[in-house]
This record gives sequence, structure tokens and C-alpha cells, in this order.
Amino acid sequence: MQKKIAPAGPIRGTLTLPGDKSISHRYAMIGAIAQGPTRIRNYSSGADCHSTLGCVRALGIEVAGEGTEFVVHGKGLGGLRAPAGDLDAGNSGSTIRMLSGILAGQPFRSRIFGDESLSRRPMRRIMEPLGRMGARLSARDGQFPPLEIEGGALRPIHYNLPVPSAQVKTCVLFAGLFAEGETSLTEPVRSRDHTEIALTEFGAAVTRDRLKVAIEGRPHLEGREVVVPSDLSSAAFFLVAALLVPGSELAIQGVGLNPTRSALLDFLTGMGARIRIPNLESINGELIGDIVVQHSELRGGTIEGGLTAALIDEIPVLAVLGAATEAGLTVRDASELRIKETDRIRTVVENLRQMGVQAEELPDGMVIPGRQQFRAARIESFGDHRIAMAFAVAALRAEGESIIEGAEAASVSFPEFWETLSRCAQGHD
Ligand code: S3P
Repeated sequence: MQKKIAPAGPIRGTLTLPGDKSISHRYAMIGAIAQGPTRIRNYSSGADCHSTLGCVRALGIEVAGEGTEFVVHGKGLGGLRAPAGDLDAGNSGSTIRMLSGILAGQPFRSRIFGDESLSRRPMRRIMEPLGRMGARLSARDGQFPPLEIEGGALRPIHYNLPVPSAQVKTCVLFAGLFAEGETSLTEPVRSRDHTEIALTEFGAAVTRDRLKVAIEGRPHLEGREVVVPSDLSSAAFFLVAALLVPGSELAIQGVGLNPTRSALLDFLTGMGARIRIPNLESINGELIGDIVVQHSELRGGTIEGGLTAALIDEIPVLAVLGAATEAGLTVRDASELRIKETDRIRTVVENLRQMGVQAEELPDGMVIPGRQQFRAARIESFGDHRIAMAFAVAALRAEGESIIEGAEAASVSFPEFWETLSRCAQGHD
């Protein structure tokens, strides 16, 4: 699918965006191993979270509902049954990596696979800790999906996470649910903590001491009602659009503002963005609030160290923004970007250049000088949802009409993206 994007007039209005992808995955998976029904409201409409629901169903769990509201009829820690066929994780790294932690604790063998992009993403990072806990795993060439998991009795471990990854952390914590005693891990930097919050909500004993997280095995998890906040990583595209286009003022309602995700807002405000949060509340242990953003002249900045991990999903759209700032944007310590849905250092730099923007590729990041203009161009999504959406935002500031090829990729996390964009920007086809 192709989308034509014309330069936009001011971005205005009030938006409600789909449910958070990270939190939706976790509620569906935890709901499946909790006892009794878990009603999930504002479940992500993205294909990734539907891959998770498909896997949960294939494991013998009834999931009722449609749209954005589902009831997962969990059967407790021992309630999953062997799937009749292979489990399909689609494009979703979160599904394969996090669900594997649960599959490792099952008394049956399962096989989980994904699409072409997922089949190129490394799984050794979860095979290692799960292997130490006693599961037997094999993968294509020792590291790529499909992944075969021979689950069974697990033993608790302490694991030093070599990579900053909330997916790997979650995988180990989920496996820890099935091990007798305390499983713990130490993260290299603090990653998103939705798993710790959700497991606590469902009744598990999770403790944190700085970078160390521990979980007590074999808890009783009880199904419950939960509401998913809107996805800050999806909101990022509209925040950047409003910051870029003169005269814009946009309100985004009910966005997840968990402190391990909201570094985005601090980073933008630090560069001079006019952003307000008129209200803030806590739902199911997660902070949620409205965001109001106005067009702003920005100074530019550097993303490195722990900040890189905190902004990992937003870097493509921040790179676009960086080109329009005063001093530009430098990204370092971001080699993890190379193993996302695409090599996002390469795809971002290539597309920026396609739009006439100078950008230098570093082994672990990129340098984008400031005060640059975007030229209208034909842009490839490379099948990556965040690349499609980031460059649609860039196209709002180009002189002339741009074309996004492979625009359907957006539906992995945000099927309503194009419609939402056309509602709040003028001149969109
Ligand atoms: C996610 C963690 C991040 C992020 C992904 C979702 C999660 O991946 O890029 O979109 O829900 O835990 P890593 O943990 O592999 O960095």
C-alpha cells in the first residue's frame, strides 16, 4: 500500500490513540496464566498484540471479545495445553521473547515462529537464561526463529542481563513464575517496568533494588479488570508532527506516562518543547495523563547511555525531528537499533538522505546536523511500522508531495495511524 503525504498546515485537535503495545502483550499473557477471567479494555489494535492473542488461544485459553475489549479466561499457572501446531508470533519480537518465558515452564514441547523480519532477529539472548533455568531450546542456526522449546521443571537463577532489554527481562521473570523459589536479574540500565507492575497487580511478589529485580516463584495469580493506557510510542509521531509544523497545537488523551517510558517528554522539554500534562492519575499501577503540545523551536541534543534504552522505539521519529532543530541530533550507544524490525540506523539514515537531509551513520548511532529542509521523496517503509510512520511525519514538512511505500506496515502497532494523521493534518491523501 502506498500513501501520499502533502505538506501539512497546523496540526490541531484532540486525539485518543490505541492502547499501549507493551502493556497489552503483558496483560494478555499474564491473564492466560492467572486464575479466572481478565477483562482488558483499550487493548492495542496493532497486529503484534493480536499475534499474542492468537498464541494464547492456541495454548488452549479462551479469549472472548473484539475490537479493543477482550476477556482472557485464564486457567492458572498449570492451565495451558500443548498447541496443536506451531505458534505464530508474526512480526512481534515481544510475543516470541516474552511468551518463551512462559513456554519454558510448560510440561510440553512448543515451536514458535515469525515473519521474515522476526526470523532474522536474535533469540540467543533468551535461550541463554532459559537454558540455565533448565529448559531445552533450539533455534535455526542456534539463534534465529523458529524456536523450539522443550519446557519442564525450572530452577531459579540470578541472571546478569548482558543487553538492555525489557523483553529479555520479562522472559526471565515469566519463567521465574514457574520455578520454585526466587528468580532474580540485574539489568545494565533501567528498562521499562510494565512487567513488574502488571505481575504485582495480578498478585505476584516482585521486588526491586536499584537495577536488581526479583520474583518469588509459583505465585497465585488472580484474573482481574485492567485498562490499557494509550501508547506513548504511538503518541510520539503526533508530538513530533505538532512540534515540527508551525501553528500546531494538539492534545492527546489518556497516554501511558510510566516514568520508564516518559523520558521522551523530558528529552523534548529539555530541547525547548512546549509540552504540558494537565492531569495525571494512576490506573492498575501505571501513570496515565493527557499531553498538550504546541509547535516549538528546538535546540537539538544527544541521546546516549541509559537515555538511548529509554527512547529506543522513538529514535526514528526523533531523528526526523533532529534535522529540523537548531543544533541537530546525535544518537549513540544504540546498536540495539540494528536488530529491531529493520536495522533502524540504516533505514533511518537512508530515508533521511532520500529526503535531501544530511545524516551520518555511526556503528552504534547516527549524527544528524540541524537546520535542514526536507525534500519531497518516495520513501520505503522496509516493512517497518515505525519507519513508515516516522517518515510520514517528515513528509508533513517537505516541500511537495511525498509517497510512503509499504505504508501498511503501520498496522503492526497502529492500524489507525493514516486515518488519524489525515484527521489532524491538512493536505493528506
Ligand atoms: C518492548 C521492549 C523493547 C521495545 C519493544 C517493546 C517491551 O524491546 O523496542 O518495542 O514491550 O518490552 P527490547 O526489550 O528488546 O529493547
